[in-house]
Amino acid sequence: MQAKPLVVQTLLDALPYIRKFYGEMIVIKYGGAAQIEERLKDKFAQDIALLSLVGMKPVVVHGGGRSITELSQRLGVKAEFRDGLRVTDRDALRVAQMALIGEINTEIVSLLNDHGAKAIGVNGKDGGFVKASAIENLGFTGEVRDVNPDLLLKLINDRFVPVVAPIASAIEPSQPGFNINADAMASAIAGAIRAKKAIFMTDTAGVLDKDKNLLRSLSRADIERLKADGTIAGGMIPKVDSALEALKYGVDKAHILDGRVEHALLLEIFTSEGVSTEITR
Ligand SMILES: Nc1ncnc2c1ncn2[C@@H]1O[C@H](COP(=O)(O)OP(=O)(O)OP(=O)(O)O)[C@@H](O)[C@H]1O
Ligand SMILES: [Mg+2]
Repeated sequence: MQAKPLVVQTLLDALPYIRKFYGEMIVIKYGGAAQIEERLKDKFAQDIALLSLVGMKPVVVHGGGRSITELSQRLGVKAEFRDGLRVTDRDALRVAQMALIGEINTEIVSLLNDHGAKAIGVNGKDGGFVKASAIENLGFTGEVRDVNPDLLLKLINDRFVPVVAPIASAIEPSQPGFNINADAMASAIAGAIRAKKAIFMTDTAGVLDKDKNLLRSLSRADIERLKADGTIAGGMIPKVDSALEALKYGVDKAHILDGRVEHALLLEIFTSEGVSTEITR
């Protein structure tokens, strides 16, 4: 029998995954290296465009860690973290909104559109679709209390790819709003729209053990243990917590994905191997 040309074989290999995820919503937290390096930005945009054009429904929720810190330094506003979460005073909230909505969100929207996706930028204040309240001692860093899925579902059903900045409106109308950890924003959104998958892109191979080996699969009990003994620390804490939250809200699978790998998203979604830590119920 004659071997199939490689391109045909590749497309056929993707077919079961396209069928499996056709019409399904996939929430992707975009952050880390993939958000900073030019080469990786383009690959990410191609991946999102491809997912969208073959009938999946990606929703991008982005972080902005480094840009917010950089802009804070330029403007002389201090950046401070506690347990991987940013402490946000009134000036820091202004800076976070400038960086996230004014700069990063529009940049991602343009990038995706340039690659053929129909991207549209929103944040939790639009239509007040994400409402948050304060986390003790963190100022205007908030926790999500409520997500109204209607706006996103309308956009998704019109084949838009929503690109969500992690800023929320406040439950108390007098407040200026809240800066939300992007991982937490992604899981709350994934839960509210009943996404099939939540993927958290980051700057490491996934969740690593004490000897820096990749942990392929983790349960809630594993995560509690690794947090308690300090193996999971810093920015990885909100990420694994958010992955667990997403599962609790009914999302099928959550992944912590190595965003430094070119086309990590396609590898994760279209191959059986995957390139991540999978968090299971
Ligand atoms: N057990 C662990 N395995 C992997 N990374 C860990 C672990 N414990 C702590 N970390 C740290 O968590 C970091 C990932 O979180 P971080 O908040 O820095 O990035 P991000 O969430 O991908 O990006 P951003 O916050 O900018 O959106 C890793 O780069 C690593 O330094
Ligand atoms: Mg982070």
